[in-house]
Amino acid sequence: MIKPHGADALNPLLVSDAAEHQALTEEAESLPSMLLSSAAAANAVMLGGGYFTPLDGYMNLDDALAVAKDMHTSSGLFWPVPVLNLTADIDGIENAKRIALRDPNVEGHPVIAVMTVSAIEKASDEQLDTITESVFGTLDSAHPGVNVFRNLGNHVVSGPIQVLNLSYFETDFPGTFKTAVDIRNEIKALGWSKVVAFQTRNPMHLAHEELCRMAMDRLGADGIVVHMLLGKLKAGDIPASVRDACIRKMVDVYFPQNTVMVNGYGFDMLYAGPREAVLHALFRQNMGATHLIVGRDHAGVGDFYGPFDAQTIFDEQVPEGALDIEIFKADHTAYSKKLNKVVMMREVEDHTPEDYVFLSGTKVREMLGNGIAPPPEFSRPEVAEILMNHYRSVA
Ligand code: ADX
Repeated sequence: MIKPHGADALNPLLVSDAAEHQALTEEAESLPSMLLSSAAAANAVMLGGGYFTPLDGYMNLDDALAVAKDMHTSSGLFWPVPVLNLTADIDGIENAKRIALRDPNVEGHPVIAVMTVSAIEKASDEQLDTITESVFGTLDSAHPGVNVFRNLGNHVVSGPIQVLNLSYFETDFPGTFKTAVDIRNEIKALGWSKVVAFQTRNPMHLAHEELCRMAMDRLGADGIVVHMLLGKLKAGDIPASVRDACIRKMVDVYFPQNTVMVNGYGFDMLYAGPREAVLHALFRQNMGATHLIVGRDHAGVGDFYGPFDAQTIFDEQVPEGALDIEIFKADHTAYSKKLNKVVMMREVEDHTPEDYVFLSGTKVREMLGNGIAPPPEFSRPEVAEILMNHYRSVA
């Protein structure tokens, strides 16, 4: 099987030994504690599940700056996006050696992890600007990821962690939320060797479905893992439970059995386009995928990135050999009215924009809001029905 990133074996930080878990839980009660941001809690969940192998905790300021600037930690590990625990408030933890990290997303703020504090540093606004600009490509607070990041605070609390639970993901998405360890084991049990991962934060429409089919066929893959984001999104994006239902229905009806795994991971969307695409590739390698589909405007938002920036970064900025996973670079896919099927636009001749069915996310949401089903050239009727029901229920 493909090796995890920078290690021979996964490094899930979730404490699985019952006695150790019990001892840590008891210790945590007497420790000073800090309430995490949702972003930092999501990092703990990714570290807990082995997705962020080989890291052992949150990065310090030096590493964060090095990662932001040239995608390497100060010790030389390839890494595309800083894994940070930023806070505005360090009252009560200033001189602590061990602290309990509390989960902002679960009622009562239970302890999600225990940290051995290596350093508490104050990043200057200029340093945070440097990180923001390198990771998101912009300082514009209209960018939803930048807006979240710049409101986390300036204190960088770093050090190794031991994770006690995986937040709300296991309870809210049973059967869908999986760790990198789970997925690696499932891939092994199925005996798949060529495995394509599909990142998504949408219900899958026809273009997404066909994209997966094309990647499978062209790569001669054994299977595909539709790996959906289950964490926080910007306002207006479709809730994970609805996306999950749409995707499962589509896979059940339209894919051969035992060729698709549907599951998800607990991380908040960054909308960091190219840099997030590289992070996506890295943690899909950790879960055992050999290929990641990167299509048009992968992990993008608005017009902040060029439509294929998330592909060119792999050629222009990811050093040869930094990752073992390969990228399936997909062109814009759309339904051709001339050919009556979804095509990659670059591959067909004699087409004008009018020959395709294009619907923006906004347009589709508007249609659904008005009780109008998207056309079958855009959405499978079974998927459209689930979406219509959702929009009716929130109207
Ligand atoms: S993402 O933010 O998770 O990337 P989304 O769920 O829309 O958003 O996309 C999932 C994957 O499908 C990404 O790799 C994206 O580039 C690709 N994709 C989505 N729509 C298209 C399309 N029409 N043509 C080509 N690729 C697409």
